[in-house]
Amino acid sequence: MKQKPIKQLALAILAMLALIVILLPAPSGAVSMGDEAAKLFQAKCSKCHGVDGSGTAMGKKLKAPDLRSDAVQKLSDDELFQAIAKGKKAFHKFGTKLSEEQIRQLVHHVRQLAKKK
Ligand code: HEC
Repeated sequence: MKQKPIKQLALAILAMLALIVILLPAPSGAVSMGDEAAKLFQAKCSKCHGVDGSGTAMGKKLKAPDLRSDAVQKLSDDELFQAIAKGKKAFHKFGTKLSEEQIRQLVHHVRQLAKKK
């Protein structure tokens, strides 16, 4: 007899926990980070590199490499970070316009482009 209320309480708590889990938004890990980076890339980079990284006519005129190519993909994350932040020939100076976190997301995005090729 004494255990019944406890059991009911436990059930009520379980039901509440289940409700919380259902109501919480889906965990936003890698997927939303990818979305953010994709938007950033489209806004800041696609003018020269194209949305898929292959390079626009303007990018090619400036000698922007295909970001999906081995020449770019063989670079370390660190080198990509520096390339985006500073650029080799001053085409990029995003280090002052983007946060470190944003540049890191872009490095991640450049890796993703190669996988979609
Ligand atoms: C004004 C045109 C232009 C824009 C905008 C631009 N790039 Fe570039 N990008 C270039 C050119 C030109 C090169 C090749 C010369 C160089 O490395 O400076 C290049 C090279 C690169 C490289 C390869 C570097 C290497 O060492 O081979 C990466 C990675 C890159 N860009 C990423 C980005 C990202 C990410 C953005 C957006 C934040 C961006 N670019 C925006 C023109 C552009």
